[in-house]
Amino acid sequence: MKTTIIEVGKFVGQEVTIGAWVANKRSSGKIAFLQLRDGTGFIQGVVVKAEVEEAIFQQAKSITQETSIYVSGIVREDERSPFGYELGVTEIKVISESVDYPITPKEHGTEFLMDHRHLWLRSKRQHAVMKIRNEIIRATYEFFNKEGFVKVDPPILTGSAPEGTSELFHTKYFDEDAYLSQSGQLYMEAAAMALGKVFSFGPTFRAEKSKTRRHLIEFWMIEPEMAFYEFEDNLNVQEAYVSYIVQSVLKNCSLELNTLGRDISKLEQIKAPFPRITYDDAITFLHEKGFTEIQWGDDFGAPHETAIAENYDKPVFITHYPTSLKPFYMQPDADREEVVLCADLIAPEGYGEIIGGSERIHDMELLKQRLDQHNLDSDAYKWYLELREYGSVPHSGFGLGLERTVAWISGVEHVRETIPFPRLLNRLYP
Ligand code: 4AD
Ligand code: MG
Repeated sequence: MKTTIIEVGKFVGQEVTIGAWVANKRSSGKIAFLQLRDGTGFIQGVVVKAEVEEAIFQQAKSITQETSIYVSGIVREDERSPFGYELGVTEIKVISESVDYPITPKEHGTEFLMDHRHLWLRSKRQHAVMKIRNEIIRATYEFFNKEGFVKVDPPILTGSAPEGTSELFHTKYFDEDAYLSQSGQLYMEAAAMALGKVFSFGPTFRAEKSKTRRHLIEFWMIEPEMAFYEFEDNLNVQEAYVSYIVQSVLKNCSLELNTLGRDISKLEQIKAPFPRITYDDAITFLHEKGFTEIQWGDDFGAPHETAIAENYDKPVFITHYPTSLKPFYMQPDADREEVVLCADLIAPEGYGEIIGGSERIHDMELLKQRLDQHNLDSDAYKWYLELREYGSVPHSGFGLGLERTVAWISGVEHVRETIPFPRLLNRLYP
């Protein structure tokens, strides 16, 4: 019976054939252990000299790492392995040999692994991270569909700069200037006026000269936008959504979390509601913690965010930032013009900001003023202003950075391991 590793549990005691690669090998005079992988999972193949033809045992002993094979064997339950099964190998057919595979079981430096990202993806650890990424995406579609949102795809090539003009990737669009999208938000606002509750999922680009464990040049964002939702309503959606994806990963990726050595007890606590703290109170708190240099009006750096997050065992919303720190489209607080109705969601354990969101300005005159103050050319935003001309309504939305979220849930230190082919400050290869 031809099957895959993930499905062997259905065939205990029977002989199966699996297309696989030899991820690793260990052998003695009497027994050889083949660590097999087929994309669906990992299983140990056991070749016992006394139980197979001599030629098969010799083949198992000499087989090289990443050789592709059809392997046949009897499926056995194995309580010692987290996967629960092993394969008593009866036959090996080599499909294609692999000679001098560069990534050996010994330790390699990060740059070496990044240069071999196309192969590094095959490792058990990277496999686990990609499966968790996939589960977060799956749960995202499930959550928003259940909640009545419509998936809308904003364009990648745009003429606008929602998140400020300093980090734009410029390109020519025939004779016009164009930019790679920093955020689909402005288009999602238009979509919310047509469809009510919408969400997008797509690549976004920031020409940021940042070289940190949280920054990618190309990253993927989930951007919901809701008509008639005000500031509080927005936070309620965010905490329900984030809880949902964490609980989905716990339910469906226990093997992967185990492979990564993730402390599950920290994730089990991630359930709505999440704590909320104003920017003002965060500044006071930081002063008490000894960050005396930070002043009202300054943005938080990674150490500040980490200090605030350490206070909680759930993600924390920091709300009501100074207007001067945030993009042009955010709705000011009615009682305090100097702060906006926004929130950043800061993940626990030092993973930093995973969501930025706000209520949007729905008054035409105020929005025009803001565009002027930010030196944005109102011609490029004519369509965006028109959303305020024809039946404007309060509305809110947010953007969740997928890679930072994968890093946090997986417990992986750096975002470079959370996307198949990371685009970093000094890396476009492979
Ligand atoms: O806070 P940001 O810049 O917000 C927006 O783009 C809004 N227009 C979203 C919206 O309201 N629809 O980005 C949102 C999130 C951040 O919280 C972070 O998780 C992620 O996107 N992000 C990055 N992730 C990796 N590398 C970068 N360079 C990132 N910049 C932002
Ligand atoms: Mg932000």
